[in-house]
Amino acid sequence: MATKSLLVTGGAGFIGTNFIRHILATRPNWHMVNLDALTYAGNLANFQDLATNLANRHRFIHGDIRDESLLALLFAEESFDTVVHFAAESHVDRSIMGPEAFLKTNVEGTFRLLKASLKSWEEKGRPESFRFLHISTDEVYGSLGSEGCFTESTPYDPSSPYSASKAASDHFVRAYFRTYGLPTIITNCSNNFGPYQFPEKLIPLMILNIMEEKVLPVYGDGKHVRDWLYVIDHCDGLVRVLEEGRPGETYNIGGGAERQNIEVVQLLCRLLDLRLDRSGSKASRNLIKFVTDRPGHDRRYAIDASKIKGELGWSPAHEFEEALAATVDWYLANMDWVEMVRSGEYRKWIEINYGDR
Ligand code: NAD
Ligand code: TYD
Repeated sequence: MATKSLLVTGGAGFIGTNFIRHILATRPNWHMVNLDALTYAGNLANFQDLATNLANRHRFIHGDIRDESLLALLFAEESFDTVVHFAAESHVDRSIMGPEAFLKTNVEGTFRLLKASLKSWEEKGRPESFRFLHISTDEVYGSLGSEGCFTESTPYDPSSPYSASKAASDHFVRAYFRTYGLPTIITNCSNNFGPYQFPEKLIPLMILNIMEEKVLPVYGDGKHVRDWLYVIDHCDGLVRVLEEGRPGETYNIGGGAERQNIEVVQLLCRLLDLRLDRSGSKASRNLIKFVTDRPGHDRRYAIDASKIKGELGWSPAHEFEEALAATVDWYLANMDWVEMVRSGEYRKWIEINYGDR
């Protein structure tokens, strides 16, 4: 199997962690440098349990993707042939409260990374095999009505500061291919779920609130639709794109599992009630509360994944309900992880260990 040297940005976040663990398990000749600023969403402890032979193929660097001198140093030291760019501010609700961080990391950060990648690629004589894989979202396409799906040619129409910043970053990535020839690929995926997701997003938030018998806040009428993708299937799709995808192209990645939010929350209530032995007046569905809708809330997302299926032979291997049950079990078995990412102790530890680097 071919050797690869990857720069993975945002590798301590939810999808990045799953991607790194997936590569360590399935691609023995791939080595990774994980550059992550360890914001509230990044957690180094995600790699604590790795066996030494795996851990040796993963080097962690605490830093910001906007730091040009750090990027120059890393490209000089490591001679990357692949960049996999996950680092981002990723939560819509946070982008409504504070959009500026999204502009800084998602737009400026992507630009600095493109600039450093282009410089290194040109210095090496523009190798054809180089790849810059940009992980983006279906949210750039805006909202669907009750019919149809997003294809790779759906016009961009972002609604939130988060999706606007991702759209801007996608445009820069595409421009670097068209203008300078940098071999970039963009993937736009639907809502992921699975292990290591920070408990601010719908699925982990609801799992924990159900466990702790807290209110389950469903925005608006709860009939907004998301197309759920198990994170392991997403990582498998990304590997196929890296190995077989064509530079300059975009690939949509979706789970083919459209569900209304209220359906997802009710299903989580059922899954946890079974495990926690709750029923009748104690049933968790009694915790559901419809709350004020999110401003600019997109009604429906759905991906047409026929391009990645036809060209690269990818389709999701996991069925939604089974993957959701496995996710519930992961959270139940990993409450120490949950406590750590929620606690100020973790933040303090990072400050002490990495504050001055
Ligand atoms: P996440 O918020 O869990 O993780 C983001 C990671 O980026 C964190 O580890 C954080 O510390 C790091 N980071 C943030 N700012 C940084 C900076 N300036 N420099 C270096 N590192 C920084 O996000 P995620 O859910 O894992 O999403 C990963 C990527 O996938 C994002 O680009 C996101 O837009 C995209 N995406 C996510 C989903 C989803 O459902 N989670 C769906 C579609 C696309
Ligand atoms: P989220 O996980 O924030 O992902 P995104 O906004 O990127 O799709 O939200 C998924 C859906 O769940 C979205 O329609 C908003 C809704 N939602 C709630 O109803 N309540 C909540 O507490 C959260 C976090 C989300």
